[in-house]
This record gives sequence, C-alpha cells and structure tokens, in this order.
Amino acid sequence: MNIAIVGSGYVGLVTGVCLAHIGHKVVCVDVDREKIRKLRLGKVPIYEPGLEELLKKYLKNKKLSFTWAIKEAAKKSDAIFIAVGTPSKKNGDADLTYVENVAREIALSMDSYKLIIEKSTVPAETGKRIARTIRMNLPKNKKSIPDFDVASNPEFLREGSAIKDFMNPDRVVIGVESKKAERILREIYKPLKPHMVVTNINSAELIKHASNSFLATKISFINAIAQICDHLGADVLKVAEGMGFDKRIGRSFLDAGIGYGGSCFPKDVDAFVRLSEKSGYNFKLLNEVRSVNEEQKAFFVRLIEDKLWIVKNKVIGVLGLAFKPNTDDMRNAPSLDIIKMLQHEGAKIKAYDPVSMENAKKMMKKITYSKDPYALAKGCDCLLLLTEWDEFKHLDFKKLGKVMSQPILFDGRNMYRKQDFEKLGFEYYGIGRGMV
Ligand code: UDX
Repeated sequence: MNIAIVGSGYVGLVTGVCLAHIGHKVVCVDVDREKIRKLRLGKVPIYEPGLEELLKKYLKNKKLSFTWAIKEAAKKSDAIFIAVGTPSKKNGDADLTYVENVAREIALSMDSYKLIIEKSTVPAETGKRIARTIRMNLPKNKKSIPDFDVASNPEFLREGSAIKDFMNPDRVVIGVESKKAERILREIYKPLKPHMVVTNINSAELIKHASNSFLATKISFINAIAQICDHLGADVLKVAEGMGFDKRIGRSFLDAGIGYGGSCFPKDVDAFVRLSEKSGYNFKLLNEVRSVNEEQKAFFVRLIEDKLWIVKNKVIGVLGLAFKPNTDDMRNAPSLDIIKMLQHEGAKIKAYDPVSMENAKKMMKKITYSKDPYALAKGCDCLLLLTEWDEFKHLDFKKLGKVMSQPILFDGRNMYRKQDFEKLGFEYYGIGRGMV
C-alpha cells in the first residue's frame, strides 16, 4: 500500500522504515527540513541499532522517501499515520497541538478517501477530536466531500530494540469504527502475521496508556520491594527471580534500580492520571507509582551521602547517562536528577556514556566528560553506575580502583555482584541488596 507517516521521530521513522521493510511504499513527513535533508542522504538523527542500514536500503529501492509537505504525502497515500510528538504540559496533560495541526493539514489536502491512523500516544477520545477537526476543515468548494475514517494503532516500541519490537509484535492493537478501516489496517500488518486486537478507538487508546502505566507500576513495585530488602538484609535480585517464575507475574520489568526515565513512562503516567481525573476517577495507585519512582533517585543520593560522609568537593564519576542502554536519549534520564542533587551538595561530577554525551552536554553544565571509563575513574572518590551498558560488564575494576582516590562503587542498576568487588578491595553498594 501507499502509506504516509507524519512525524519522523523515534516512532515515526522506525514505523516508516519497517513498513517499507514489509513491502509498503512509504513517505515520511517532518517539518524539520534539516532532518528531512539528512534522512534523504541516509543519515539517521537518532541512535537506534539497525535503523541506518534499513533506511539506506529502502531509500535506494525507492520504497521510502522523505518530504516536509504533508499535502504531497497525503495525496499519494491511502493511509496516513500521525506519529508526531505529544509532550507533557506543566499540569501533566498530553499537549496535542501537533496532532491537531496535522489533522487540519490532512483535511485541507483531501480529495479522496483516506484512513487517518493515530500512532502517537494520545489520551482516549483523541480519535473523536481528530475526526471533528477533519470534518471542520474539509475543502468546502469540492462537489463531493471526500469520505474518511480515523483509527487508533498504538505502538509498543522500546528504544534500543524498536526494529525488533516492530517486526515481532506481541500484538497489533487497532481501534476502528468501520469495516473498511479494519480491512486496511489488517492489510498493512498482514506480512507480520501478528495477533490482532480489534476494538473501538477509545479502547485502543486506553490499551496504550494502561500498558505503559502497568509497566511503570511493575518497576515501582520492585523498587519498593528493594527498599524493604535493604532494611531486612534481603536480596531483591533473588526476590525478583522467585517472583518471576510465576507465569502470572513474569520476570521482565522487575529490575530494581534508580527508577524509570525516558520519553514515554513519565509522560504517559502523567497523561493517564490527568485523563482519569477528567473522567472522574482519582488514580491514586499511579500517583504512588510516580512518587516511588521519584523517591528512588533521592534514596540513591542519600545512600551516597551516607557512605561518602562529606559530598562537598568530592569527585564523583558517573558511568552511563542515558535513560537506558542502547540509546542516546537523555529525556527524563534518572542521571539528570541524581547529578543535579549531588552538584547541589557541592560534588564535582565527571561522566562517561558510550553514545549520549552529546545530548547530555545540551542538558547539563559543569560536568567533566571523559573519553572512556579509565579516564573517568582517575581521581574519583567513588563511581556511580547509572546505565547498564553492556560495555560496562567487562571493565577492569582492578585497574580502575588503582587510579581512584578511594575504590567505592554505587551500582544504580544492580549490574554487578558485591562479592566480585570486595575481592578487589572495593566498597560496593547496590539497590535492595540488603546494604542499609
Ligand atoms: C517503553 C515501553 O516499554 C514501550 O512499550 C513503549 O512503546 C515506550 O515506552 P522505553 O521507554 O523505550 O519503552 O524503554 P523501556 O525499556 O520500557 O524502559 C523504560 C525505563 O524503565 C528505563 O529508564 C529503564 O531503565 C527502566 N526500567 C525498565 C527499570 O528501571 N526496570 C525494569 O525492570 C525495566
């Protein structure tokens, strides 16, 4: 099919490349002309393993093209995905300005039937508002007003594994209000032979918010268990292992640490709380999920203060800045708040991250960035592991310990084993490892 994707960010670009990969002809749109220029040259503006190779392949065989003109893209497409950003407003609401703009522009360019598909994460009832915006902006001077449908098709892509997640979906959720819309979406995803969940638009929009909020709940639950483990001298890794074998629970997303970050969980939990309030339900459980997540970072800083004694003028080396491994994304990364709290106490911060330092430099000042973990460790009074990059698994901590002022490691992602470090003369502190 001929498909347009409006919004070439983390979601839109991966969706566009993968839809081309399964056989469709795709045009991706973005207002950022510099980004479009780079994409046309096969340059990917984000760090997503495997994306650049696929981009180049489908540029070459013309299955994938890029433009900044919605009109041109919409005209030659049967289905148009809206994949623009829905950032948080101050009060936690999702800001749907970009979504409304795109809906209006699509309407103005319509001269035949189109299926408009919400890919962005939006609160329930947004589909209805998109349909109303389109109806109000259809060209009046046309003899026949073109027909259209709106549908919801939320994404469940994790940064760092987005292509794998697209190509191997646990399920494809579609929210439709017509058989025609359902038929088109089934056709689009047919090559993946996925399990299809077909429902109405509101339910599909809710599935997205409910899924992300449940995953965030699972993380805050195990972080709360970690706090108890620290007081009782229990090991949260063992607790998570014991829980995880129960198929009703599952081991994934039970990794205690400094909490969740990223562009989705914080934003989606906030938006879901707001949506619930507006629909008349006070989602107290999610408020608690948020506060446990915030508290986890403050707890980690208190642990550092407790073990270092005086933080002022101490040199602290940060291993990993991104909100998770295999991404350069610093949005809502726990490292941002932790570093801010430590700087507030007068600590001197050094940092190393394999890919996200360029983004970090735009968000944090007064940090010495190191070229590798060994340069980072020089003169440090302690090291903090904040992102569990694979390359940190095999560091030579014997060598690192020798260049540090004092060999102390705070493991914010429980990446290491205490006994391995004590053999090397390190003081080791994890999260929920029974330390307090
Ligand atoms: C998430 C959802 O997983 C995905 O389905 C949705 O489409 C977008 O949001 P993403 O934010 O890219 O994906 O990353 P994810 O792997 O879910 O991790 C989110 C955060 O939770 C990271 O900061 C990660 O470090 C943290 N996390 C994850 C934990 O602290 N513990 C865990 O057990 C798992």
